[in-house]
Amino acid sequence: MSSVESANAVKLIPVSHFTDEQLAAIYNQTRVDYLVPMPMNAARLGEYIKTYDVSREHSRVAQTEDGEMLGVNMLGLREGRAWITRLGVIPNTRRHGVGQLLMESLMRNAEGLHIHFFMLEVIKHNTPAHQLFLKLGFYEVGELLVLRRSPLTSAVDPVVADARRLERHDALTLVGWDRGTQPWTNQSESLANAFEVSGLYLTLADGSRGWLVYQRQKFLLTRFAFKTEAGDPATVAYALLSHLHHQYPRLDTQVENIQISDPHLPGFYRMGYVEAFRRIEMWRGTPPPSLQK
Ligand SMILES: CC(C)(COP(=O)(O)OP(=O)(O)OC[C@H]1O[C@@H](n2cnc3c(N)ncnc32)[C@H](O)[C@@H]1OP(=O)(O)O)[C@@H](O)C(=O)NCCC(=O)NCCS
Repeated sequence: MSSVESANAVKLIPVSHFTDEQLAAIYNQTRVDYLVPMPMNAARLGEYIKTYDVSREHSRVAQTEDGEMLGVNMLGLREGRAWITRLGVIPNTRRHGVGQLLMESLMRNAEGLHIHFFMLEVIKHNTPAHQLFLKLGFYEVGELLVLRRSPLTSAVDPVVADARRLERHDALTLVGWDRGTQPWTNQSESLANAFEVSGLYLTLADGSRGWLVYQRQKFLLTRFAFKTEAGDPATVAYALLSHLHHQYPRLDTQVENIQISDPHLPGFYRMGYVEAFRRIEMWRGTPPPSLQK
């Protein structure tokens, strides 16, 4: 079947017409054979939609005329930029043009709002998705790491330093608002939308200093934003992490979408972080001037 024939048989319906239970069910069906298993339940998907400013109105579910589910694709919208996420087509209906149809529909929706700059991430070695995005005019801008640290990693003593806890407001103020070309998950809006966000500001004896902002979930530390204001980034990162993990020895940690060239990385590895997997970051169009600060 060509994509034109499929297009006639496929209905694209706004995600807002579905409950989070239905959406989680469709999403999970599209990911049964995924490279990295990431099943979602309704509550997690609802939170994901809120945290990442996904527009239910502009996102789409693909169905046959008979109401049989085919796939889903979600669109995040923020000032001057759009994010494509959760794309999936149910395995036995792939290669009939549904994925491309969903993508084109979301891009049209964003363009209708005068947004022409698109971002997404694709797990490395996911050839079908990578090829689809290249075909639609996306280009690679970098490679991102997802890192994990187990609470079973040996205990750490905090590096001697002047360390100050930052409450939510001060933490978000430090993060600021000029992070619009960071991967979507790490943009300021993602942190501002998240609950339980706080931070650490640390100064070492030699004057090196920096900060780390994070989200503390029940069993997990995640959503890191960090900056070295003076000194060696790897040393500052190690010192910050030593205080964080000393404070929360029993929590798992997952840090998403750190650039492979990030100079803080040696500090993470020294602290027992390991690479879980890599993503390729892709853009379509160029960031508008308001994001090029
Ligand atoms: C990626 C995915 C959504 C593609 O959906 P699909 O409906 O099969 O794709 P389409 O039939 O619309 O294909 C459109 C284009 O994508 C590319 N493509 C799709 N499947 C491909 C494959 N197996 N190998 C290579 N290229 C492929 C091709 O460029 C294709 O164009 P062509 O038909 O002119 O060659 C689907 O494979 C999927 O759901 N995968 C699992 C979930 C996933 O990886 N999601 C993306 C996360 S970033």
